Amino acid sequence: MCGIIGYIGDKQAQPILLGGLARLEYRGYDSCGVALAGGTLEVYKDAVRVEKLAKVSPQLDGTVGIAHTRWATHGEPSRVNAHPHLDCTGKIAVVHNGVINNYQRLKQQLISEGHKFVSETDTEVIPHLIEKYYEGDLEKAVEAALREVEGSYAIIVLMADEPGLVAARKDSPLIIGIGDRENFIASDVPAILGHTDRVIYLEEGDIVVVTGDSVRVSRDGVEVDWKEHKVSWSVEDAQKAGYEHFILKEIHEQPRVIRDTLGEYISAAEPIVDVADTSLESMLILACGTSYHAALVGKYIVEELLRIPVRAELASEFSYHGQSPATTMTIVITQSGETADTLKAMKKLKEAGCRVIAVTNVVGSSATRIAEQTVYIRAGPEISVAATKSFIAQLMALYWLALSYSVLDMRTRDSLIMELRQLPEKVQQVLNNEDMISECARYLSKYENAFFIGRGINFAIALEGALKLKEISYIHAEGYAAGELKHGPFALLSPDMPVIAIVAQDNTYEAMLTNIKEVKARGSPVIALAEEGDEVIGELADSVITVPQVAPIFSPVVNTVALQLLAYYTAKQRGCPIDFPRNLAKSVTVE
Ligand code: G6P
Repeated sequence: MCGIIGYIGDKQAQPILLGGLARLEYRGYDSCGVALAGGTLEVYKDAVRVEKLAKVSPQLDGTVGIAHTRWATHGEPSRVNAHPHLDCTGKIAVVHNGVINNYQRLKQQLISEGHKFVSETDTEVIPHLIEKYYEGDLEKAVEAALREVEGSYAIIVLMADEPGLVAARKDSPLIIGIGDRENFIASDVPAILGHTDRVIYLEEGDIVVVTGDSVRVSRDGVEVDWKEHKVSWSVEDAQKAGYEHFILKEIHEQPRVIRDTLGEYISAAEPIVDVADTSLESMLILACGTSYHAALVGKYIVEELLRIPVRAELASEFSYHGQSPATTMTIVITQSGETADTLKAMKKLKEAGCRVIAVTNVVGSSATRIAEQTVYIRAGPEISVAATKSFIAQLMALYWLALSYSVLDMRTRDSLIMELRQLPEKVQQVLNNEDMISECARYLSKYENAFFIGRGINFAIALEGALKLKEISYIHAEGYAAGELKHGPFALLSPDMPVIAIVAQDNTYEAMLTNIKEVKARGSPVIALAEEGDEVIGELADSVITVPQVAPIFSPVVNTVALQLLAYYTAKQRGCPIDFPRNLAKSVTVE
């Protein structure tokens, strides 16, 4: 989704803005642009990658500016639709994240008043509204303009000859980075890493005026105090560290991520979740995308360890039809903390009187503001659009939560905790198997379709394995509950339809072997994912990826890592832009 950055200080703004844009690329975008202010505004924008924009835009002189990466919603990716957008005088420039719902009505009104529009975007109404209300005070004009606007926004406004930048947020995140004789405004922390680790997370409805040495925040027309936070992520965390792609680095970071996340939970004096007045009789887990697959794994974990019924639901669906009693423990899982569908479901639950617990990776994100309680995962910045390490860290939060309240006897619980602590080594063993997995990927890369099948707790991993493959390799892949394959998808089985089968050493084992035989009998090649020491599977499958032995409840961890590598090497073999797949965004801030 769109990313924004603004700079004001005593340094040349252009390289800082372009560097910031490069660090925002991970959000997913199709065009980008930059505006710098001196006596006039200079704007360079196009439907190109940031690297290209940096090459083609001339060296601009100026110590204040704004920049944007756009993920098209209203109007195709093109130079004219790219941000920044200008008013009629060419003196007011705006970058915007979010969607203006009533832009058509506002646009008609402004056109009837003589304003000329050049783009198809919703954003363009904002600079024109600011122009309309400008009477020598930019902040007041922005305030007046935003009173007319319905929808979501994080905006930065730059005006030629004005001493400061004005920014505002509603339902879209915005942070201020505080430097030494310089300040930053950005949609998220990675944009400003390397410049400062001091940030202010703006609240809903905040309007802020930022100069090189001051930050003034107001809410409802009244100046408010702000709180400074220290960011724990470093610039190195958001770099490739010698890996060819961010995703490969992030896959390899997983032993560390498990250690950090569990380490924090284990050393905490209190349980990570305070169950307070929820009776722990039932649980609802909501999420989108890969986080939804973590929710599905969570359902199995909690049902097994707490013996209570759990519903795992897509947040995007729940917002429209879902209900939950206030006594149900409600958890939302969201890496970014900004997914619009997830936030909408959270607000609905809150209005219904539910206490919502957020599991997220991003400090200060919108989910943490809505939630009653937040459980942080310690994945560090995840730059690749396709989620990997955040998923594994989400599973750690769910394991720990379930083990904290499990109904198991002490000995069984302690032995599971011991196994949990060994997972970093087990994951490292999967990573050490990279060459063998990349061989399987070479084979898989020749196909255009694939099924992933699993049973029980690994059904969710079949879904996640298929999602990872389609996201980054563009192979059409479907995850299926192995027992369901014969109820329809069998019609598609043929030598052109490989099936990746997850074979766990649990009560589903025999049934999975039967399913594999059925698939083979219909001509589909089978790649099996199976535990070391499984003597039988080699005779049934065409190839086998082995994973280390773990307790069945932890098998999603090792299986996921193997499937992440399989997707990665398949995508690499096919020459795909792995970190930034076409049309996708890291953080989906629209419904
Ligand atoms: C996007 C990302 C996915 C992610 C999903 C949910 O689609 O590309 O990787 O799983 O959003 O994001 P969240 O931040 O809520 O976990």
